[in-house]
Amino acid sequence: GIAVAVLTAAGSGTRLGARGPKALVEVGGESLLHRAARGLLASGVIDHITITAPGAEIDRFTAEVVDLAGEGAVVVVAGSPDSRQASVALGLDAALKARPEAEVVLVHDAARALTPPDLIRRIVAAVRAGHDAVVPGLPVVDTVKEVTDAGERVERVVGTPDRARLRAIQTPQGFARATLEAAHQLGALRAADETHAARDDAALVEAMGGRVVVVAGDPLALKVTTPLDLALADVLARREGI
Ligand code: CTP
Ligand code: MG
Repeated sequence: GIAVAVLTAAGSGTRLGARGPKALVEVGGESLLHRAARGLLASGVIDHITITAPGAEIDRFTAEVVDLAGEGAVVVVAGSPDSRQASVALGLDAALKARPEAEVVLVHDAARALTPPDLIRRIVAAVRAGHDAVVPGLPVVDTVKEVTDAGERVERVVGTPDRARLRAIQTPQGFARATLEAAHQLGALRAADETHAARDDAALVEAMGGRVVVVAGDPLALKVTTPLDLALADVLARREGI
C-alpha cells in the first residue's frame, strides 16, 4: 500500500523572527524545507510528499525542492494562513488527489528538519501493524504545572500532573488514511482559526473517540520554533553531518 506525507511549511515563523519564511531558513547550509523533504524520501517508505507553502511562496518553495521532485514525488500547494490544521486539511486533499490509492498518511512539520529516517520508518510500521493513529513522544524533563487562564494579574497553579505519564509529542504523526480523513472532516466543522484549531492531528482523532498510540520519539526531531532552537539545530546538523 502507498504511503504519502503532508509536509507543513505554510507558517509565518513569528517566534523565530527570521526575515523570510521559516521553511527557507538554513541549518548547516541547507533549508529546513529541503532537509525535511529529503529525510522523508530517505526513509524509503514514503511514496509522495505534498508540501503546504505560504500562498505567495509557491514558486520559491517549488524551486527549493526541484531536485527531489522526480515523477510527481514532491508537490507544493498553498496552505492556509489561518491555522496549521487548515493547512493540513488542504495538503491532505491535494495528497489524496495525487495518490488516490494512499493507505497511510503521515503529517510532518518542515520545522522538524532533522527528523531521523528511522523515526519515520517506526511511525509507518506502526500504522501498517494496525494502529490507526501513531505519534512519536518523548519523556518530559521539566515539571509541568497547569495554571489559571492567562490574562489574570497573577497566574495561580491549578495542578501538577504526574510527569511520568506525560509525553512531549513530535511529528511525523501517522494515520490510516480513512482515520485522518474522518478526523479532518470533523475538525472542519469546528472553528479552524489558530485559537480554536486542534493542536495537532492526533487531537482530532482523540476528539472523535479514536485511539492514538505513542511510539518512541527522537531528540533530533526537535521543532525549530525560536532562535535558540535554530542555533541548536545548526550545531547538530554540522556536528552529526546530517
Ligand atoms: N504551519 C502551516 N500553516 C499554518 C501554520 C503553521 O503549515 N497556518 C506549519 C509551519 O510551517 C510549521 C508547522 O506547521 O512547519 C509547525 O508550526 P510552527 O512551528 O508553529 O511554525 P509557524 O506557525 O511558522 O511559527 P510561529 O507559530 O512562530 O509563527
Ligand atoms: Mg505556529
